[in-house]
Amino acid sequence: MALLHSRRLLAAPRLAAAASRASSWWSHVEMGPPDPILGVTEAYKRDTNSKKMNLGVGAYRDDNGKPYVLNCVRKAEAMIASKKMDKEYLPIGGLADFTRASAELALGENSEAFKSGRYVTVQGISGTGSLRIGANFLQRFFKASRDVYLPKPSWGNHTPIFRDAGMQLQAYRYYDPKTCSLDFSGAMDDISKIPEKSIILLHACAHNPTGVDPRQEQWKELAAMVKKRNLLVYFDMAYQGFASGDINRDAWAVRYFIEQGINIVLSQSFAKNMGLYGERAGAFTVICSDADEAKRVESQLKILIRPMYSNPPVNGARIASMILNTPDLRKEWLTEVKGMADRIISMRTQLVSNLKKEGSSHNWQHITDQIGMFCFTGLKPEQVERLIKEFSVYMTKDGRISVAGVTSGNVGYLAHAIHQVTK
Ligand SMILES: Cc1ncc(COP(=O)(O)O)c(C=O)c1O
Repeated sequence: MALLHSRRLLAAPRLAAAASRASSWWSHVEMGPPDPILGVTEAYKRDTNSKKMNLGVGAYRDDNGKPYVLNCVRKAEAMIASKKMDKEYLPIGGLADFTRASAELALGENSEAFKSGRYVTVQGISGTGSLRIGANFLQRFFKASRDVYLPKPSWGNHTPIFRDAGMQLQAYRYYDPKTCSLDFSGAMDDISKIPEKSIILLHACAHNPTGVDPRQEQWKELAAMVKKRNLLVYFDMAYQGFASGDINRDAWAVRYFIEQGINIVLSQSFAKNMGLYGERAGAFTVICSDADEAKRVESQLKILIRPMYSNPPVNGARIASMILNTPDLRKEWLTEVKGMADRIISMRTQLVSNLKKEGSSHNWQHITDQIGMFCFTGLKPEQVERLIKEFSVYMTKDGRISVAGVTSGNVGYLAHAIHQVTK
């Protein structure tokens, strides 16, 4: 009897736990799919091959394959530390020295829109958070349409950012897999049919994931077309300076559109060009018709931001602001950002020459034609599968590689592996 009693006692908590599981608030929540890029990194970590390469992650690596902190960032951090600044909240719209310098960096110091003050820039939580502020702003104030047209393909996070903000996603042709380059006529044809007063998203430079950007003459035709269709242009500029090594060249399209009287909205990130990934420094800008409109838009952006996260983090903005507003540091940054871009460009060239050395007869010109962190190799899913299984070279299924993960030490191995699966 005593035994029975104690068994019942033991069973009771288990029954209670099961009952509470069944009646949980969250029993209907299904397991979500893993993030495709993080999945690549997980598989890479488990691999014991000493030659393994991770070409999935979108973060810069130096020629030893190590994360890279810019000298100008280290110096800015030391200057900030020596000032023993307080940890008070920033204003809702962020650090004023930072937002002003961000706008100037994107628009150019001689920009009429910048000088006349017919713009508003608020600090965002890096590029992603700035895009989300923009998406929420459009949801609340862009009354003409819910439709956001993305290039096909686009950065994977664009769709959920806009969808979660209540917008609808559409697409226009952008990339031609047959030539591994821009499908310019397809893009123009699709854009010419976008209903007037819709929203179109353009990658300002270093298109992710394809590495394919329009040339300046093509940007001019695109600008004329979006003007004709009266579209609201949303520029995502996550790689200014990182693409060509020249901050002005990479901002050319943004500045040209504004000069054509196109009042764009813009998201910026300092993750890549300053290597401030985890600091989450970014900005969202609206070009308005005059300074008064800019004031009204600013007031509404603050109303939107306040219940989301109250005010943005201070550290990354202080670092970026210190670099942009201190002439010596800015100069050093421009050299360092060019150094990163040049290393990537040189890895592209070395990859192609190593493929030739291996005896590959394919045309790999797209590797050097494309620009920025990513390269759409044109490798098929089954070839990617073989690269992973037989050579421990990890990348996303679409054949995208992060050129930042290639070094002079492993470019030969990569070329050999690619040749083996494509010959
Ligand atoms: C096209 C594009 N936009 C925005 C971002 C935002 O990045 P973050 O939020 O790290 O600044 C990225 C990062 O990969 C990107 O590639």
